[in-house]
Amino acid sequence: MLDGMVGRIDVHSHLLPGIDDGCEDIDESITCARRMVEAGYTHSFCTPHIWSNLCNNSETIAPRVQNLQKALDDAGVPMIVMPGGEMTINRAFPGQQACDFVTYNNAGKYAIFDFWTHEMPPFFAASVRHIQSAGIQPILAHPERIYAIQTEPRVVDEFPTLGLLIQCNLECLGDETRTPRLALAERWLLEDRYFLIGSDLHGADTLDKRLRGLQHAIDLVGEEQVWKLTHTNPLKLIEGRPPGAQAP
Ligand SMILES: [Fe+2]
Repeated sequence: MLDGMVGRIDVHSHLLPGIDDGCEDIDESITCARRMVEAGYTHSFCTPHIWSNLCNNSETIAPRVQNLQKALDDAGVPMIVMPGGEMTINRAFPGQQACDFVTYNNAGKYAIFDFWTHEMPPFFAASVRHIQSAGIQPILAHPERIYAIQTEPRVVDEFPTLGLLIQCNLECLGDETRTPRLALAERWLLEDRYFLIGSDLHGADTLDKRLRGLQHAIDLVGEEQVWKLTHTNPLKLIEGRPPGAQAP
């Protein structure tokens, strides 16, 4: 899977064309992938939104990733793309069948999710446990972007006890003014709370900002720490190793 390529691994992207609010067509996907390669990325998980109105699931995403891989290969863009998905939890989620979960590489080991509420939802802990009950490690995408957490950031203190990992977004780190989400992202980076950093790229128009965010992370905590969050830990998603496991 690594194919001898060693570089940053993007764990969160809407790179697949035309299936959510990400890249609109294959040309935009290729443009974005080329820019990511220039920035040091060799691999990217494609994590489209798993929303009921989009009908994205493990079976539909995998062939689309294969098609994108062929297009990247034909265009001479040296990037490996892999399947994944960004689930959204809601009231119905704790009753959802585990076979409907979309996991990194369809490996059933790690899954990323988000939610968009103004207060911590009553189904939050039950949703985390529901993912865990299927033997899957849950990861919350970009807590710094979620209003319920911005207004009550201490809830993140409980995540280790819940067994929940968190992913930082490059877009928040690219904010040019001191927004609440930038302040939280900086704080949690400095406190070494994140397991991953992802671009959450949605298209070519905001990619420069996200890559500025990558440089900001490096300036803030150093390349060694950013490498851990953009390569060492993402490797565990590819290889299916537990979060605390060392490389073989
Ligand atoms: Fe996303």
